[in-house]
Amino acid sequence: MHPNLNRMTKAETYQSILPQIESLVAGETDMIANMANVAAVLHDAFGFWWTGFYRVIGKELVLGPFQGPIACTRIPFGKGVCGAAWQRAETVIVPNVHEFAGHIACSSASNSEIVVPIIRNKQVIAVLDIDSTEYNTFDTIDKEYLEQIAKVLLIDLAFSAVPNKPEQAYLLTAKGLALYAQLTEQNCAK
Ligand code: SME
Repeated sequence: MHPNLNRMTKAETYQSILPQIESLVAGETDMIANMANVAAVLHDAFGFWWTGFYRVIGKELVLGPFQGPIACTRIPFGKGVCGAAWQRAETVIVPNVHEFAGHIACSSASNSEIVVPIIRNKQVIAVLDIDSTEYNTFDTIDKEYLEQIAKVLLIDLAFSAVPNKPEQAYLLTAKGLALYAQLTEQNCAK
């Protein structure tokens, strides 16, 4: 177990990294740069085995920024845990990957997994995938906070839509999310 987790509960650890993640994302408009930093923050805070992103490109998920050992580069729609989260457009928690039909074993050391879709305008644009060497690592607390982090990642798109408002960077989470909702309504409405 990561040393941080001896002193803090899982929820406290998520709460402590959320402001850091938000300020990193609010200061940068490039999604890949933000995914790279988010993967690094999560990986370092929890000591996961593998923490990273796959982006939806055409009919596949393509490996994005990650921390951990090398991984499969392309995953088809509906395949593996990542493809299932994309297909269902919802978070998939797998307590034991060996019991998940179709699980793609990028590493034999992984025993449990969570995959959180990143959804923009009702489309899955990427997934956040985290692997653990322990069984039963992930639960609804991870789901709740990782889904929040997935939403924070979309803030950069709101800022790219309004590049003339740099003063709106460095918002607290609730404010950032409210602003994102407001900006997407103004700028991304079809
Ligand atoms: N296990 C995943 C594949 C990605 S790796 O774990 C990094 C899956 O079944 O989709």
